[in-house]
Amino acid sequence: MHSFKELIVQFSQQFEPQQFPATPQRLYNAATHILEIGGKRIRPVLCLMGNELFDELHPDAFQVGNAVELFHNFTLIHDDIMDKAPLRRSQPTVHTIYGEPAAILAGDVMLISVYDRLNKVQSRYKQRVISVFNKAAIEVCEGQQLDMDFESMEPESVQYHDYVNMIGLKTSVLLAASLQLGAIIGGGSDGNQDHIYQFGKNIGIAFQIQDDVLDAFGDPEKFGKQQGGDILVNKKTFLLLKALELCNPAQRTELKRLLASSPDDKVARVLQLFRDCKADVWAEKEKERFQQQAFQSLDSIAVLSARKKPLMELADYLLDRQQ
Ligand code: IPE
Ligand code: IPE
Ligand code: MG
Ligand code: MG
Ligand code: MG
Repeated sequence: MHSFKELIVQFSQQFEPQQFPATPQRLYNAATHILEIGGKRIRPVLCLMGNELFDELHPDAFQVGNAVELFHNFTLIHDDIMDKAPLRRSQPTVHTIYGEPAAILAGDVMLISVYDRLNKVQSRYKQRVISVFNKAAIEVCEGQQLDMDFESMEPESVQYHDYVNMIGLKTSVLLAASLQLGAIIGGGSDGNQDHIYQFGKNIGIAFQIQDDVLDAFGDPEKFGKQQGGDILVNKKTFLLLKALELCNPAQRTELKRLLASSPDDKVARVLQLFRDCKADVWAEKEKERFQQQAFQSLDSIAVLSARKKPLMELADYLLDRQQ
């Protein structure tokens, strides 16, 4: 059994040297850039943990972890284009440096490389691995589309359950699938695979709420993204939906006016309204609620509780993180 910190080190050592051809330089430099500027590597670690919950670590868990981390980085490149984001992991985004065409293509190449890796796993579970991965990958696209659709919608037309559904798709399913893929490799039963998936799904929702909180209130030095990026593109985050629910009529008018315009101080003024309505306090409570639901699924997994400790530690770290 390994702690999540040990697993991050183990995974990173063999993930770092990615081999891309030398030319076309712009394409492969773009792909190399995103992989060399860090990232927490939590999805592959979830895959390793899903494996270790049931059995000794198997090389296939590293192979699938590689695939999942490549997929995640592909989604980040495309996401930054969609979100008009200037910064990622404290560096200029790929499309800002290399242009949108190279960024789109670098993402495409990474997505295709994912399948080279998935194809190398043992044949006895290869089909299952590919089908669990594909389901999650398609759902991520669905979630990203909903996220974009919501940007241009009136906030009243986006209900809280729409938001939870959207972040469940764009973010949680990949965390949940990473755990399940590890569990498949580790020989977990179908029932245990369902429980570990549900654990990941709820942790993932809390993880995205924390991401939305950090986008608004985080220290940009640590978080590595532009502060208030979500506010600038009118994302329908938990904070905005909750603020609109809790605010008084005057605050609502102000918030709606800010959403319909782009004054220089938009971010500062919206943040003040979020604070005044205590949307940030609610976000903390909501994270805890989803974390508790996640822990219930973890309780249902039929293995010794000592084996679950690394997952609980990782969950605490993810929901308290500043980056
Ligand atoms: C960022 O994910 C995208 C979201 C789903 C919020 P991470 O916060 O895991 O990003 P890195 O890989 O550590 O940079
Ligand atoms: C991203 O959500 C989810 C995916 C990349 C699929 P965000 O747009 O909130 O992620 P960040 O904040 O840019 O990392
Ligand atoms: Mg984004
Ligand atoms: Mg996005
Ligand atoms: Mg975000």
